[in-house]
Amino acid sequence: MTRASLDKQPHEVAAMFDDVAANYDLTNDVLSLGQSRLWRRAVARAVDARPGERVLDLAAGTGTSSLPFTAAGAYVVPCDFSLGMLRAGKKRNPFLPLTAGDATRLPFADDVFDTVTISFGLRNIQDTEGALREMLRVTKPGGKVVICEFSQPTWAPFRTVYTEYLMRALPPVATAVSSSPDAYVYLAESIRAWPDQPGLAAALQRAGWTRVAWRNLTGGVVALHRGTKPRNVE
Ligand SMILES: C[S@@+](CC[C@H](N)C(=O)[O-])C[C@H]1O[C@@H](n2cnc3c(N)ncnc32)[C@H](O)[C@@H]1O
Repeated sequence: MTRASLDKQPHEVAAMFDDVAANYDLTNDVLSLGQSRLWRRAVARAVDARPGERVLDLAAGTGTSSLPFTAAGAYVVPCDFSLGMLRAGKKRNPFLPLTAGDATRLPFADDVFDTVTISFGLRNIQDTEGALREMLRVTKPGGKVVICEFSQPTWAPFRTVYTEYLMRALPPVATAVSSSPDAYVYLAESIRAWPDQPGLAAALQRAGWTRVAWRNLTGGVVALHRGTKPRNVE
């Protein structure tokens, strides 16, 4: 079994997701106690895709995170660098234009997407700010970014309980439901090491995004960040 470490070497991250691909969606549902469906609905509302719009779903994995945008009539491009995840997605959703690509060197021209979105992907990318700059490059001026990522519960007592659940319960539960429990040790570690809500907002601003704001879901277990590409970028 391949397990990425916190330096997030791209080949280790890709290999780890190749390994979990077959059971990824099911394990997600179980480990999030069903919350992942609620989070996906919130992303769909924030993206607010319109018929004919072009949406890039980055780090799309099996493409499950892309489905709400096709349902809204948008043209969605799910992009990921794990061929295992893309293959599992192609079996399940053969109509999706699943595309292989690295988030830090996207295979797209400048200014082509109305919205770029990434769910539970940014935390796994070694060069976070490089990815945020690439996302800005491929977005049309005036277009937006929506990031769905694990974050920090805002209520201190809940934060303590959550951290205990995350660090102690996740690996044994993952052992029961997943063939690759080590990947879920990485999940817990990478969530703990990830910036809080203001920290990620600051990274978005440094990368050139404007009108940056966020909204907490499930008490801050997950945060939805959004930003806009300025119209006057040179
Ligand atoms: C936790 S999965 C999320 C999949 C999907 N967005 C979802 O919400 O179910 C994270 C995905 O990020 C992808 N990923 C990590 N680093 C990447 C990179 N540099 N470029 C493209 N994809 C990347 C992994 O291959 C994996 O499929």
